Amino acid sequence: MEETCLRDRPIIEVRDVRKEYPLGGETVVALKRINLRIRRGEICCIFGTSGSGKSTLLNQLAGMEKPTRGEVKIGGACISRMNENKLAAFRQRHLGFVFQSYNLLPNLTATENVAMPLMFRGVPRAQREKAARELLCRVGLSHRLDHFPGQMSGGQQQRAGIARAFIARPDVVFADEPTGNLDSKTTVEIMDMICSFSRKFHQTILLVTHDPEMAAYADRIVRLIDGEIVSDETKRRKS
Ligand SMILES: Nc1ncnc2c1ncn2[C@@H]1O[C@H](COP(=O)(O)OP(=O)(O)OP(=O)(O)O)[C@@H](O)[C@H]1O
Ligand SMILES: [Mg+2]
Repeated sequence: MEETCLRDRPIIEVRDVRKEYPLGGETVVALKRINLRIRRGEICCIFGTSGSGKSTLLNQLAGMEKPTRGEVKIGGACISRMNENKLAAFRQRHLGFVFQSYNLLPNLTATENVAMPLMFRGVPRAQREKAARELLCRVGLSHRLDHFPGQMSGGQQQRAGIARAFIARPDVVFADEPTGNLDSKTTVEIMDMICSFSRKFHQTILLVTHDPEMAAYADRIVRLIDGEIVSDETKRRKS
């Protein structure tokens, strides 16, 4: 990604995106005509009730699905027109993901899971595992470095998930209901962690939630109803 692109343009540009799904001879219109520009370093929340199209929008932004119409650019690159191989490489290089169900690989330790994105970048094993251990310590898991996901609590798995999402310093981290399975105290810890990484490294966060308390962490709240943006509010950051 060119430095000039990052400086001069929004990191994410969404133009006239529509998403339809065929369903038993009918068509479900999940997104109607979405236009959105997201600045580098912004913590942007996609907010709405169940079925409003939040995950569908995230999937188009992250290149997990192709829009029916319109285009999505990240750092100037049109991801909605990339072929699968190019897209996979782009995702590994520029994007990070935090999942509601953590999605750690069960037969790898916390350290090996977190080190994985650096493997795709060609970082030698000793170096990537050192970086993974350091980051796991920063998210409070110094005592769980060699544990497997099945030997960790949900909150611990999600901390490892966050370390994995951020370790390769991606430009954008996508998080769909990242605390959906966690209690309220752990939710606060996890959200504080995501926001502090974002601010430290000026990384853009796309956070999907239906929960107003989580949305309150964002700099900007884009509200969806029935596949349309009905409001878009930017707050002043708390210092
Ligand atoms: N693969 C699919 N095939 C058909 N319809 C789909 C498909 N995926 C999503 N939809 C429909 O698109 C709409 C938006 O779904 P989406 O999953 O984006 O909602 P959401 O806002 O993420 O909801 P939730 O908060 O429950 O996760 C819904 O009406 C859903 O039924
Ligand atoms: Mg969803």
